[in-house]
Amino acid sequence: MKTVRKAVLPVAGLGTRVLPAAKTTPKNLLNVFDRPILAHVVAEARAAGIEHFVFVTGRGQTAIEDYFDQQFELETQLEAKGKSEILADIRAELGQPGAMSFVRQMAPRGLGHAVWCARDIVGDEPFAVILPDMLMRAQPPALAQAIAAFEAVGGNIVVVESAPPGEAHKYGIVALGETTRGFDGRLAHMTGMVEKPPPGTEPSNLFISGRYVLQPEIFELLANQGAGAGGEIQLTDAMVRLMATQRFHALTFDGTTYDCGDKIGLLEANVAFALAHPELGAEARAAVERLLRR
Ligand code: UTP
Repeated sequence: MKTVRKAVLPVAGLGTRVLPAAKTTPKNLLNVFDRPILAHVVAEARAAGIEHFVFVTGRGQTAIEDYFDQQFELETQLEAKGKSEILADIRAELGQPGAMSFVRQMAPRGLGHAVWCARDIVGDEPFAVILPDMLMRAQPPALAQAIAAFEAVGGNIVVVESAPPGEAHKYGIVALGETTRGFDGRLAHMTGMVEKPPPGTEPSNLFISGRYVLQPEIFELLANQGAGAGGEIQLTDAMVRLMATQRFHALTFDGTTYDCGDKIGLLEANVAFALAHPELGAEARAAVERLLRR
């Protein structure tokens, strides 16, 4: 079985829910405690063994490419000032030469269209898709859990989690069949999925939460996928078509997710990552408690 070496990160959405913060800063470069959202996500993917990152970007997002590139002047100055810890932190985040690709989506026509834009770089191998707005804290990290499931059962893997009561209609929802042995009952055969089902028609309360392992045949289907929910080319619709010929499993995520594409989710992520910081966590807790007492 081929291993999962490449990850596609679609970042070309407009980020309307976090405007005006995302007006001049790409949404995924907004901060979560001590670094941009994307830096947290790339670290998660590296820990899962991803070697090549394909960012699907839009206009005004060249700062993403710069973030993962060397900044000679900054590094030289940090070195001269003896700021070796900060320098090491910055250097650890850099991309490897040639291991980050950037493709333009040209227009935000939907997540399915964004993933399709990565087809030539991904080529003919299974690959991960990461929705970088969704910050996931878990041990092992979310994508590593998905890849472990892929290595056990092959095919396609979709990470899912429970939607808050009454909110399933806002998400892509899956229908499940038989549970797979192992994985503490968290891995199950998928029998269907539907994007934003009308309230009352949801096949379950499990929503697709932003980490996938997909087979390259999805690209052929995305190439002629018509517009779906919201007038956008939906990845979910192409996955439903792929289910006719390939197996899909849903892995119920064991961990906590923060939707950083939303103002409150972004705030919550900031607080959670601050509280969990190995050196600054205690100080962060004191600051939050002070704030709540005021
Ligand atoms: P979202 O719908 O959450 O992101 O898409 P958005 O469109 O940026 O946000 P709002 O709804 O306007 O606030 C999930 C992911 O898919 C990417 C987004 O950048 C986000 O990371 N995406 C979405 C694209 O890359 N291209 C698209 O056409 C749509």
